[in-house]
Amino acid sequence: VLISGRGSNLQAVIDACEKGDITARVAVVISDKADAYGLERAKKHNIPAAVFEPGKFKDKNTYELEIVKVLKQHHAGLVCLAGYMRIVGDVLLEHFRGKIMNIHPALLPAFPGLHVQKAALDHGVKIAGATVHFVDEGCDTGPIILQAAVPVREDDTEETLSARILEEEHKIYPRAVKLFAEGKLKIEGRRVRIT
Ligand code: GRF
Repeated sequence: VLISGRGSNLQAVIDACEKGDITARVAVVISDKADAYGLERAKKHNIPAAVFEPGKFKDKNTYELEIVKVLKQHHAGLVCLAGYMRIVGDVLLEHFRGKIMNIHPALLPAFPGLHVQKAALDHGVKIAGATVHFVDEGCDTGPIILQAAVPVREDDTEETLSARILEEEHKIYPRAVKLFAEGKLKIEGRRVRIT
């Protein structure tokens, strides 16, 4: 699991694995920030963790090669981006194509990018939500695996809406990982078939 911060989605996946809902385990947590709270979560669950700060590498490829090395050392079969605030580059994609997932707090393809809960509110949408998708070279553009809808309330603020979306994220991310672990996700062009 790749993180940059709080790691609440990481926690949801760890919990689902520990409960036995998912027949898998989090092999390693990698952060691009040394102070990411998610690193504490990994420690608490005795999960190996590593920090790679992109600024300390010559370029993105060198940075990602280091990540790939650690992922392979830990025999990772799936890479979950969970609040990892970077666009995945060529190196990670080349080594894990079709095996990288991301969670996004909007109903894609609406509102890709950052600050999307606020963008959805400002736009006046009535239904917001969350999306788990496979990662391709774009920003939040890959094939969609699961989505959850969250109705917007009249008195919602960015904070209240984000909190309700997050609750759904914590349900659909483990569910998507479970489907992957069971070999039930087939990518067919832009579509993901759940078998
Ligand atoms: C989540 O809202 C996720 O959808 C987005 O970044 C946030 C990460 O939260 N990509 P957390 O670090 O998992 O708590």
